[in-house]
Amino acid sequence: MPPSYDVVFASSNRHKYSEARQILDSFGMTLGFFRCRLEELQSDSLVRIAAGKARDAFSRCNRPVIVEDDGLFIDSLGGFPGPYSSYVFETIGNRGILKLVGSKRSAKFVSVITYCDGTTLKSFNASVNGFISRRQSGSGWGYDPIFVGSDSETFARSKLKNESSHRYRALKKFSSWFLRM
Ligand code: IMP
Repeated sequence: MPPSYDVVFASSNRHKYSEARQILDSFGMTLGFFRCRLEELQSDSLVRIAAGKARDAFSRCNRPVIVEDDGLFIDSLGGFPGPYSSYVFETIGNRGILKLVGSKRSAKFVSVITYCDGTTLKSFNASVNGFISRRQSGSGWGYDPIFVGSDSETFARSKLKNESSHRYRALKKFSSWFLRM
């Protein structure tokens, strides 16, 4: 990987990387991809999970790195699946979530971006409010077909996802801190 990137994004998820690269590009930053499966602590805190992943990522790639941990918090389910969103997606998936959600459909997506360069470890979190659609719409990845954001479209159909998502908001905070460093 050429050393010219400002920072690399460590993840096994190419979708997250390509969104993050497009978003950081709009803030004038370059982002490389360090594709790997990171150690994930069991915790009810996204910040703690992301910090563990960032330390693991830095120990492997030995260059300034960011990682991301996300959670979908559904109000009528007491915030479930929250920090367990990845496991829940792999087990019951979007169809299972649609069966569980009651008439109150409000939800939020939270992103924690953690930066590590071996000396500094710093997290940036942000969320976007929305709701869970009645049926899947569009062919996006993960929860995109069931999460409706501010433009009343599911993230899978939205043209504004990368200008309004949890990821956009957390990366905006990260880039303004990084560019001032
Ligand atoms: P992770 O543990 O950070 O990978 O994310 C938790 C779950 O949320 C995973 O199943 C992801 O695929 C999903 N997820 C995170 N961000 C998004 C998004 O922007 N759209 C759809 N699903 C997402």
